[in-house]
Amino acid sequence: MAYEMKPLACDPAGMNGLSEKIIVSHYENNYGGAVKRLNAITQKLAELDWATAPVFVVNGLKREELIASNSMILHELYFESLGASDASAALKSQIEKDFGGLDSWAAQFSAMGKAQGGGSGWVLLAWSPRNCRLVNTWAADHTCNLAGATPILALDMYEHSYHMDFGAAAAKYVEAYMNNLNLAVASAKFETLKGK
Ligand SMILES: [Fe+2]
Repeated sequence: MAYEMKPLACDPAGMNGLSEKIIVSHYENNYGGAVKRLNAITQKLAELDWATAPVFVVNGLKREELIASNSMILHELYFESLGASDASAALKSQIEKDFGGLDSWAAQFSAMGKAQGGGSGWVLLAWSPRNCRLVNTWAADHTCNLAGATPILALDMYEHSYHMDFGAAAAKYVEAYMNNLNLAVASAKFETLKGK
């Protein structure tokens, strides 16, 4: 099965404090690269002789498949997360319950992003059906997520997300990202998950 790139979900020229150049480069090179890599890995897996393949080949390919798959999925959510809009009443109410309000949620989420500056990983707002609450989760190397939880908002902290605009000033990028939160999209995702 070939994976295809989804169209860019945000308006790259309409960001507040993030350049069109970096959004388009991120979409084409990093997201596009993950989809290409996933297709190449999928092809290698289809050709594998599972009975005789060395364990390091099986482990390596399956690990890289997970990394490329999550990179593809999280980048799609990242671009959907950009485009300033307000949270619905239902999302606001859940955030109030789980974090004490939008401001305290945003303070925690952005602090987690700044804490990853210079490293590589993600900060995700996710709905956990196990805990019946929203959680801010840390995710390194595209491979970590709270089991069973579904991310509804994603902040990419890999350097390619900000270096072209901000150099090493990761905190400035996090502040710009927080000014572009597409909380309407997060609200729709939350309401679908909560309704299940
Ligand atoms: Fe990225």
